[in-house]
Amino acid sequence: MATHVFGCFAQNGEKGLKDAYKDYFKIGVAVNRRNLDHSNEMEIVKANYNSVTCENEMKPISVHPKEGVWTFGAADSIADFCRKNGIKMRGHCLAWHNQFCDWMLVDKKGKPVKKEVFYKRLQEHINTVVNRYKDVVYGWDVVNEAIVDGPKFGRFGKEVNPYRQSKLYELCGDEFIAKAFEFARAADPNAILFYNDYNAADPAKCERIYNMVKKMKDAGVPIDAIGMQGHYNIFGPSMEDIDAAINKYSELVKTIHITELDIRANEQMGGQLIFSTEGMKIDQHVEAMHIDQYVKLFRLLRKHKDVVKCVTFWNVSDRDSWVGVRNYPLLFDAKAQPKKSYYEVRDFDPKMDNFVVKEDFVPSELNQPGQQYPMVNSQGYARFRVVAPEAKSVVVSLGLGGRGGTVLRKNKEGVWVGTTDGPMDEGFHYYHLTIDGGVVNDPGAKNYYGSVRWESGIEIPAHDKDFYALKNVPHGNVQKIIFHSPSTNSERVAYVYTPAEYYQNPKKRYPVLYLQHGWGEDETAWSNQGHANLIMDNLLAEGKAKPFIIVMTYGMTNELKWGHMHEFDWTAFQKVLMDELVPYVDSHFRTLANRSNRAMAGLSMGGMETLNATMARPQVFGYWGLFSGGVYDPAKLEGMEKPKHIFISCGSRENPDRVKESVDNLKKAGFNATSYVSDLTGHEFLTWRRSLKEFAQILFK
Ligand code: XIL
Repeated sequence: MATHVFGCFAQNGEKGLKDAYKDYFKIGVAVNRRNLDHSNEMEIVKANYNSVTCENEMKPISVHPKEGVWTFGAADSIADFCRKNGIKMRGHCLAWHNQFCDWMLVDKKGKPVKKEVFYKRLQEHINTVVNRYKDVVYGWDVVNEAIVDGPKFGRFGKEVNPYRQSKLYELCGDEFIAKAFEFARAADPNAILFYNDYNAADPAKCERIYNMVKKMKDAGVPIDAIGMQGHYNIFGPSMEDIDAAINKYSELVKTIHITELDIRANEQMGGQLIFSTEGMKIDQHVEAMHIDQYVKLFRLLRKHKDVVKCVTFWNVSDRDSWVGVRNYPLLFDAKAQPKKSYYEVRDFDPKMDNFVVKEDFVPSELNQPGQQYPMVNSQGYARFRVVAPEAKSVVVSLGLGGRGGTVLRKNKEGVWVGTTDGPMDEGFHYYHLTIDGGVVNDPGAKNYYGSVRWESGIEIPAHDKDFYALKNVPHGNVQKIIFHSPSTNSERVAYVYTPAEYYQNPKKRYPVLYLQHGWGEDETAWSNQGHANLIMDNLLAEGKAKPFIIVMTYGMTNELKWGHMHEFDWTAFQKVLMDELVPYVDSHFRTLANRSNRAMAGLSMGGMETLNATMARPQVFGYWGLFSGGVYDPAKLEGMEKPKHIFISCGSRENPDRVKESVDNLKKAGFNATSYVSDLTGHEFLTWRRSLKEFAQILFK
């Protein structure tokens, strides 16, 4: 994805988060004084958010460091930005044990004051601050973090005191909570008044918060709303816990805000933060987990839109996130560019929110004997199950596009389970597992050579799977041959398909198709995951194709790193293929050894090899086929001996227009040419199985 300055992004008319969520809730952000000097960050704010919280600038210590001393400069500048841009603010915060006016609690000698003295000071503080920003602040975190963390019962099974043992609590007990809310209500009867806390989805703390708010509300304390801070990470909390907490809080209040959202990419806590980006790299599986946590959270919050009224991100970008850039916490990266997670959160499909996954899962047909998982259902979902009791994370590389895979979660039995977040394209997919950063195969699935390794394979049943199904028809033979290659001084392997009738007609000679695999694959691909032999058996049984031999050998493309295609020396393979393999096949099989009975085709990189080989020596092959592997330019074919037929194809999710256009041009230039686009498939084997099926019906007729 091209990087862009966010200003341009907004000017391009792309919708921001606030627009995407206008029917759900407000989207907010914490802004600090430094952000104001970064115009690109403020563009992000304007384009995406309709609620702003001062990160520190309205906190007691920031505006009121000493008795009688008010320092509103920084808060004012952020409030003015909001006023100017018509953005309303959440006020944060009025009473907290951190960043507080500790002077309020003691006298000149540092001795604790009477609580009445403290209340007078607190009231003056709240009254002054709330009134100053009344025009722009629509709600206040009145009391922040007054509840204790940890399990319900302490040592010796005794229930712990629910309140944090802060100086405020020591002086006043829980009465300071009630007082703060009363002062805030008196200062602004219209503001929404929040109790705000972190770990608010933790079941034990949730219960304590619930009990406290209930007790206060029953006593008439004006608590309107609950703020769940939302400092999360990629491991937790679970959506079940967040869901349960929202349900519980909604028994008490009509408004819940997520007030300080960020999702850390690891388990680091405050003390160990590293702010340098040097050498920073986010592993793909970590990114997938990060996206997954954001996507699942927002889906859950959308479900609760009746009570969740605003979701505020804590900081604009990772650049100056309070948890440090290495925690990768936000939707904008260290350079203030939107991450994949930004688009996944913004561009949700509301239809999918209520989509019901059918529970008709059956084992994938490519599973190892007796293995139940992976499973597939009739809608194209795949479900995985992995036993890895000590693992911290399990991510499956197969998933919805843009997400980097499917994140599995540990269930109650301690087993990792997960289902793709939507239907997969029909057909064959390679995948692997990443367990705690290490790549392994799924023990349930059979392996197929792709990505330069034996990958796990899964088959999403295609509606047209009949054409490559194993049926009761006469079957041809796939045999492994080994031939000597003088040019590479090696013994090389090829697989050769001979149609069923080959051994019944000992005199008959057959045309030959040389069929190449793609990058990362090898000579096994076309007959294993490609089902080339079954496709032919079925076509022949129906009389739809002429019988021919297929030769599949290794295209020597894997020595090349992905993305370095321009460095590939096509001539080495051309020598092996045309000077060594073709003569070998012609002398060991009953072939029709001439151009009009010889074809070459390949998928992806194999298509590029076909393109290069046929153009280098047009006299060798009479039929040329490119499956998702480039196109012929008629101008470059001028003056060459014309092939009998050119076939060019790809999946509809690739570049079908380019394929069609090139075939149109070829036809205009007088070539026999056919284009084919495989419906609703991408750069994957179903596209190529279908391409072979189409091409086979054209060949040698
Ligand atoms: C944090 C700020 O982001 C930091 O800059 C500051 O150093 C400490 O406070 N819960 C809250 C926020 O309610 O006020 C805190 O903000 C983060 C945790």
